[in-house]
Amino acid sequence: MKEYKICLLPGDGIGPEIIAEGVKVLDAVGAKYDTAFEYTEASIGGCAIDAYGTALPDSTLEAAKASDAVLLAAVGGPKWDTTDPSKPRPEQGLLGIRKGLELYTNLRPVQIFSALAGASTLKPEVIAGVDLMMVRELTGGVYFGRRERFYDEEGAGVNGARGQRAYDTMEYREYEIERIARQAFEAARKRRGKVTSVDKANVLESSRLWREIVHAIHDADYPDVELEDILVDNCAMQLITRPADFDVMVTENMFGDILSDEAAQITGSLGMLASASLGDGTALYEPSHGSAPDIAGRGIANPLAQILSVEMMLRYSFAMQEGADDIRRAVTEVLDAGWRTGDIADADTPADKTVGTARMGSLVVERL
Ligand code: IPM
Ligand code: MG
Repeated sequence: MKEYKICLLPGDGIGPEIIAEGVKVLDAVGAKYDTAFEYTEASIGGCAIDAYGTALPDSTLEAAKASDAVLLAAVGGPKWDTTDPSKPRPEQGLLGIRKGLELYTNLRPVQIFSALAGASTLKPEVIAGVDLMMVRELTGGVYFGRRERFYDEEGAGVNGARGQRAYDTMEYREYEIERIARQAFEAARKRRGKVTSVDKANVLESSRLWREIVHAIHDADYPDVELEDILVDNCAMQLITRPADFDVMVTENMFGDILSDEAAQITGSLGMLASASLGDGTALYEPSHGSAPDIAGRGIANPLAQILSVEMMLRYSFAMQEGADDIRRAVTEVLDAGWRTGDIADADTPADKTVGTARMGSLVVERL
């Protein structure tokens, strides 16, 4: 019997409700494939701020490092929203664990479940065949660059106006670009063999370095993969014009943050999208959506993105391809049978097919 240690980070809002369904699914797959998952739970985000005064207690990072994989649900909520630089924020937990585990690759697959095709705001012929992988650099760029807020004694502008001043720096080192480029090319080889590299090389120096390195790695080691460059503003437009043309997209941290929300919404169901954050050690899996504080505690949140993040965990951390395929098949069957949580239900969904979080999790488990 194989044994794996999983660190659970439920976080805030709907986090505890949806992660419970992820665990149910993990246990069911474990039972089927003679694998035991052992869980430790730790605190992150707003609840960690309340309990420890920091969004990422040292004990949480240690628990994550000591495990074979981390399953995270979501962090944040209005209770902890602040623009005061001296106050802790839940998101610091997420950024801290990404940096602490050196999770430089973020994979966000965007696929259409045919049963949900009608949920998109785009025309059916535009979204037909969408199957793309957003590869987002996750530990560099403006998220982690030098930053400062200060009172500007110098003054500037026509009147020499004084006031507060702030900056953030978008910085990349060659090795950071190289390793994420390799991840993208490797992913493309397992898919349709095409990489679209997104940058702003007509304006930003860090993007010009990005473009040079991506091409150098391509020409040296991945000439079999098709490579195209696209400027980020144009990309935002092309993504909703011809989304099915993209295979692997690779980009820096903040462009990836923005474009992955856009790409997710192509499907019309953000509640369905999972993500994997990978480095050279323990990896982290989480839904692409947030903590949905408005519906927290009511048992109605959609657990499918969390369940699909378990699928990614099996694939990338444990090489349990069959278990991963089982989860995808089970989720597809549940949707094909018409079961919906509120967020993916529509006017045609009968009341008796609209289910809550726990029931949705059980429906998936039954089909495993
Ligand atoms: C995401 C989120 C995070 C990010 C926030 C919550 C810090 O938007 O994972 O995309 O910006 O990376
Ligand atoms: Mg985001």
